[in-house]
Amino acid sequence: MHTNQVYSEVVTVNNGSHKWWHRRWMKIIGIFIILLIVSAIILALVLNFVVFAPTISEINTTASPSSSSLATTISTLPSSSTTTSTMTPTTTLAQTTTTSTTEQSEPTTTTTSITVSTTTPTTMSTTTTAVQEWVVTGNMSAARYIHTASVLENGFVLITGGNNGSTVFNSAELYNPSTDNWTTTGSMNVARFGHTSSTLANGLVLVAGGRNGTAVSLNNAELYNPSTDTWTTTGSMSVARWYHTASTLANGLVLVAGGSGNGGILNSSELYNPSTGIWITTENLNAVRIAHTASTLANGFILVAGGVSSNDVYVNSAELYNPSTGTWTSTGNLNFARAYHTASTLANGLVLVSCGRDAITVLNSAELYNLSTGTWTTTGNLNFARVAHTTSTLANRKVLVTGGLQDSITLDSAELYNPSAGTWTSTGSVTIARYGHTAATLANGKVLVTGGQNSDGYLNSAELY
Ligand SMILES: *[C@@H]1O[C@H](CO)[C@@H](O)[C@H](O)[C@H]1NC(C)=O
Ligand SMILES: *[C@@H]1O[C@H](CO)[C@@H](O)[C@H](O)[C@H]1NC(C)=O
Ligand SMILES: *[C@@H]1O[C@H](CO)[C@@H](O)[C@H](O)[C@H]1NC(C)=O
Ligand SMILES: *[C@@H]1O[C@H](CO)[C@@H](O)[C@H](O)[C@H]1NC(C)=O
Ligand SMILES: *[C@@H]1O[C@H](CO)[C@@H](O)[C@H](O)[C@H]1NC(C)=O
Ligand SMILES: *[C@@H]1O[C@H](CO)[C@@H](O)[C@H](O)[C@H]1NC(C)=O
Repeated sequence: MHTNQVYSEVVTVNNGSHKWWHRRWMKIIGIFIILLIVSAIILALVLNFVVFAPTISEINTTASPSSSSLATTISTLPSSSTTTSTMTPTTTLAQTTTTSTTEQSEPTTTTTSITVSTTTPTTMSTTTTAVQEWVVTGNMSAARYIHTASVLENGFVLITGGNNGSTVFNSAELYNPSTDNWTTTGSMNVARFGHTSSTLANGLVLVAGGRNGTAVSLNNAELYNPSTDTWTTTGSMSVARWYHTASTLANGLVLVAGGSGNGGILNSSELYNPSTGIWITTENLNAVRIAHTASTLANGFILVAGGVSSNDVYVNSAELYNPSTGTWTSTGNLNFARAYHTASTLANGLVLVSCGRDAITVLNSAELYNLSTGTWTTTGNLNFARVAHTTSTLANRKVLVTGGLQDSITLDSAELYNPSAGTWTSTGSVTIARYGHTAATLANGKVLVTGGQNSDGYLNSAELY
């Protein structure tokens, strides 16, 4: 009896407990089912808007109120061989190509390299995520296009020159990453755009070549001293050039290659010696090139790839500069001829080139160069074709691509390349769509994007990723 009573109490307690747990489990299962449904909805949304997002041209032709005019613009790609299309929605970029190639065939032709579009290219908003990855910082003192950005030893970013469609700037300014402030610094002796800017081992910055607003390329060069905020003229290159490349070698010299001079597109290359302030010519490239890329490899070689050759031919060839022998050697061809593309040396030693354009269209392809094999292999395509974009290697080894032009549309989209997966994924869009801008990776890991232009005009704005 006593035992039964205890048993019955235990059973009673157990029953109560069982009923209580039963109700608790029902709640848990209910919550689980709700979570499952929410996850499914999120997954469906992600697949719809991110993974299977329509391309910008699809957006234009289906959703844009001005789809007909845009579709026309897209279908009639600006030809860089056209010498009369100066006031069309083609880009200043395409026009600069025109100028250089015109000079190649007709050295006596004088054309103005800066033109202001009278028709407004469209800026598309492609916001794919609510995450705020970009933050607008203070404005630069001037709206700048085809300027340069160099990270100094003290972590500041030096911005030089550029143009705003009517004025070419000799001014320079500094971005302070700790205060997020811009300050004007000493002006260059010569106004220039389409020049190069190289940080030297001694902390000075070498600016070389470019154009000053006429159709005249510059051969002069100057040095910026961050401790005095001043510029001093240094030795001039033997050849005037713009849209060339500049690479700081492991031995401290700076190698410039190609570009367009005053007699056409160049195959010449020269070395600047910071100790003497003098340029010496080194071997010619195997091909003349403008709007190519130059990348420093792990072994110290410089890889030059693509560009535009004479007679407006977009090239797929690539070559290697050996600093010990001072010679250029041809290496494997790109799978796609391209110019106005970007190149990034990855942590695994491969060189990633992305997008750019050929004679017909803007490209969304990317490829990798492996020095061991001397060959290029294609990797994942970007979600958007782009030219006059930027790429930046991040601390996490991913590569960030921002903005650029897709035909006449200025992009605000940004994508990340994952070297392990070989794929591109969308990341937060820049606040202001832009092309012909600069991107600099700061010591704190952030990326500073500055200037450029879009349908609203030339930009003085800057933002951080
Ligand atoms: C930056 O410049 C733009 C365009 O001139 C202007 O609209 C904006 O208010 C400026 N922003 C700041 C913070 O001064
Ligand atoms: C370009 O800059 C100059 C000098 O600051 C200025 O006078 C001019 O209005 C600017 N032009 C445009 C299109 O912003
Ligand atoms: C940064 O700019 C703000 C606003 O112009 C100013 O108040 C502040 O003093 C500046 N800081 C520095 C370190 O220059
Ligand atoms: C541009 O540079 C050329 C060559 O150095 C020079 O003759 C010309 O006067 C310069 N033009 C301007 C506007 O500075
Ligand atoms: C470089 O260009 C010059 C002038 O066009 C030409 O004479 C020379 O043959 C070229 N050199 C090479 C290696 O292509
Ligand atoms: C480059 O090619 C070599 C030879 O095929 C290969 O062993 C190496 O893994 C490649 N490098 C990378 C980073 O893929």
